[in-house]
Amino acid sequence: MRKLCAMYATKLRNYRDRGAIFCFIFLSSVVVFNIYSLNCCNQNDVNEVTLSTLAMPDIPGKHFMKRFIQLHTSDAGGLGNQMYRIASLYGIGKMLNRTPSLDSSSPHNHNLAIEFQTLFPNIFDVVAFNTATDEHRDFTIFGRDCCAYADPRMIHDSSAIWLFMGGSYYQSYKYFHEHKEQVRVMFDFGANVTNAVKAYATDLFGDDKSYKLCVHIRRDDFVQHKNLESRTDFVVPAVFRVLDYLKSEARVANMSAVFIGAKPDFWNALNVFRNFGHHFHNVFNAGLSSRGEDLAFGATYCDAFLISASGSTFAWWMAYLGKPEMPVFYNGQVSKARNHSKDYHDYDMFPPEWHKLEFDNITGDVRFEKKWNFELFREWN
Ligand SMILES: *[C@@H]1O[C@H](CO)[C@@H](O)[C@H](O)[C@H]1NC(C)=O
Ligand SMILES: *[C@@H]1O[C@H](CO)[C@@H](O)[C@H](O)[C@H]1NC(C)=O
Ligand SMILES: *[C@@H]1O[C@H](CO)[C@@H](O)[C@H](O)[C@H]1NC(C)=O
Ligand SMILES: *[C@@H]1O[C@H](CO)[C@@H](O)[C@H](O)[C@H]1NC(C)=O
Repeated sequence: MRKLCAMYATKLRNYRDRGAIFCFIFLSSVVVFNIYSLNCCNQNDVNEVTLSTLAMPDIPGKHFMKRFIQLHTSDAGGLGNQMYRIASLYGIGKMLNRTPSLDSSSPHNHNLAIEFQTLFPNIFDVVAFNTATDEHRDFTIFGRDCCAYADPRMIHDSSAIWLFMGGSYYQSYKYFHEHKEQVRVMFDFGANVTNAVKAYATDLFGDDKSYKLCVHIRRDDFVQHKNLESRTDFVVPAVFRVLDYLKSEARVANMSAVFIGAKPDFWNALNVFRNFGHHFHNVFNAGLSSRGEDLAFGATYCDAFLISASGSTFAWWMAYLGKPEMPVFYNGQVSKARNHSKDYHDYDMFPPEWHKLEFDNITGDVRFEKKWNFELFREWN
C-alpha cells in the first residue's frame, strides 16, 4: 500500500503543477477526503483520493459516481483474465451509472493493484480501489457463464451503493467494445514498461524494419488443461496460410516472424529455420522478463497477430490492444474437446473482423473459415 500511496503522492504533485483545473480537482478531492475522513495510507483513501483527483473522462465536471459495481470474488488469476474483469465491469458500469471497483479488502487485489499501477498508470483514473461498506449492498447473479455475453440492460438495478456481480469472468469483448477507445486509454502502458520493452525490441530487431507477423504460443498449463495448447500441427500450416494472405491481400513484401511465448522445447519442435527460414526476412523468438512486458511487447511491436491457443486471454489482449488496423488471426478451436463455453460462444469472444482459421485433421492443412462454430458443428453432425 505504501507504494501505491507514494505513487499517488507523485501523481498529485504533477497535477498541481498543471495549474488551475487540476488545482480545482485537487481541492475537490480534499473535500471528498474529508467526507471520508481517512488518514493517508488507509486502504480506502488511496482509492477515494486517487480516484477523485480525476473526473471520468466523458462526464466533464463530475467526479466518480458514488455507486459502485464490484465482483463478488477475486483471485490471483492470469493478467488477461483480470483485464477482462476490469474492462467488463467498466462497460457494465457505464450502463448502470456505476463506478467499477476493485475490492481492496482482498490480498490478491493488493498485488494486482500494484502491478496495474505500474503497467497501466491511467487505470485508477476510472477504476476505484475500495472496500464495500456493510450496508447498501445488492447482488445480481447476472453473467454466470464465463464466456457468453448477456445484455446488462436486463439487470434490475437497485438503489444500493454497492452492486456485486455473481459471475467470475465476464470474458466477452461485447461488454466493453463500444468503449474501446476508453479501454485502450485505461490500459495505456506506463513509462517503465514501455521503456523496458523498447530497449528489448531495439536490441532484438536491430536494423530489421520489416513488417512483423507475431505468433503467440501458449503451452505450459494448457497441456494438461481442457484448453487446447499451441501445437506444431496447427502452427506451421497456420503461419503459411497467414503469410500467403498478407502477401496477396495486404501486399506485404518484406516480412519477419516474431514468436512470443515459445519455450526452447517448442522452438526446437517448430524447426523454425528449416520451416520458415526461406519465407521470412528474420525469425525472432521474443521472451521478456515479466508478463506485463510480454503483453506490452505484443501489443506494441506487431503488424499482424496470430493467436495459436485461442483459450489464452493474454494473447487476446495483445491483439485487442495492438495497432488499430492490425489483422488478427486465431485458431477456431478453443478447447481440446471443442465443448468449452468459448467454443460455443466464439462470436462473443472474437470480433468478426478477426480471421478465423480451421485446422483440417485429415489433410493437415489450415484454411480460413467464415462460419461460427455453432454453424460448423451443425454441418458436422
Ligand atoms: C520504474 O523502474 C525503476 C527501475 O526499475 C524503479 O526504481 C521505479 O520504482 C519504477 N517506477 C515505477 C512507477 O514503478
Ligand atoms: C527487407 O528489409 C531489410 C531491412 O529491414 C532489407 O535488408 C532487405 O533487403 C529487405 N528485403 C527485401 C526482399 O526487400
Ligand atoms: C467435453 O468433452 C469431454 C470429452 O468428451 C468431456 O470429458 C467433458 O466433460 C466435456 N465438457 C463439457 C463442459 O461438456
Ligand atoms: C477430426 O476433426 C473432426 C471434426 O472436423 C472430428 O470429428 C474428429 O474427431 C477429428 N479426428 C481426430 C482424429 O481428431
